[in-house]
Amino acid sequence: MPQPNQAALEFLQTRRSRPAKTLILPVPDRAALRPLLIAAARSPDHGKLEPWRMIVLERAALLRLAGLVPSVGARLGKGPEDIAKQVSQFADAHLAVAVIESPKPSEKIPAIEQMYSAACVCLGLLNAALAAGWGANWLTGWASQDRDFAGAALGLAEHERVAGLIHIGSEGVAPPERPRPDIDAITTWVSE
Ligand SMILES: Cc1cc2nc3c(=O)[nH]c(=O)nc-3n(C[C@H](O)[C@H](O)[C@H](O)COP(=O)(O)O)c2cc1C
Repeated sequence: MPQPNQAALEFLQTRRSRPAKTLILPVPDRAALRPLLIAAARSPDHGKLEPWRMIVLERAALLRLAGLVPSVGARLGKGPEDIAKQVSQFADAHLAVAVIESPKPSEKIPAIEQMYSAACVCLGLLNAALAAGWGANWLTGWASQDRDFAGAALGLAEHERVAGLIHIGSEGVAPPERPRPDIDAITTWVSE
């Protein structure tokens, strides 16, 4: 019989994100963050291509990014409210890790599988942070999805994209549980 890791199973069955705007100080320092990055990089990766990388955004970097958002918003035709919300995602944050989808040339592994692998890294980092007792939230937003912003603000190459900005900090308020999927409604059992 398998030997269950009950604590891990219970964590996975009850885990939930903490909205980024509710995260407060302290945030993990570099020594505390490193094991979480190691856990995230231990993600399924067809062909061992490592089609991703991580950019740790500390406070000053997040403020720099916040300063770049208004001109991106103006170029994209966003309204003042939308721009202010996107600015505050960066300006109010103290730590976020940008998980970068960085596909590698491969005849065998399709680009979409490399993208899935980058998403696994995002979830791996989110779960590692939550398991370590931090609050964490996977965000994106129109700024990070804009190629020019990603290039100027984060130094991404043409073929790279932001898969997620994983905000990490201390839990400010306990979030209410959100509705979870009805497993019976989304599961088909095939027995023959
Ligand atoms: C790829 C991706 C991008 C997301 N981007 C945002 C975002 O920009 N803003 C937002 O409020 N939520 C965003 N979310 C949803 C949050 O992560 C949300 O808090 C999450 O679904 C909560 O789920 P959990 O409690 O199961 O972790 C995103 C989720 C994914 C998977």
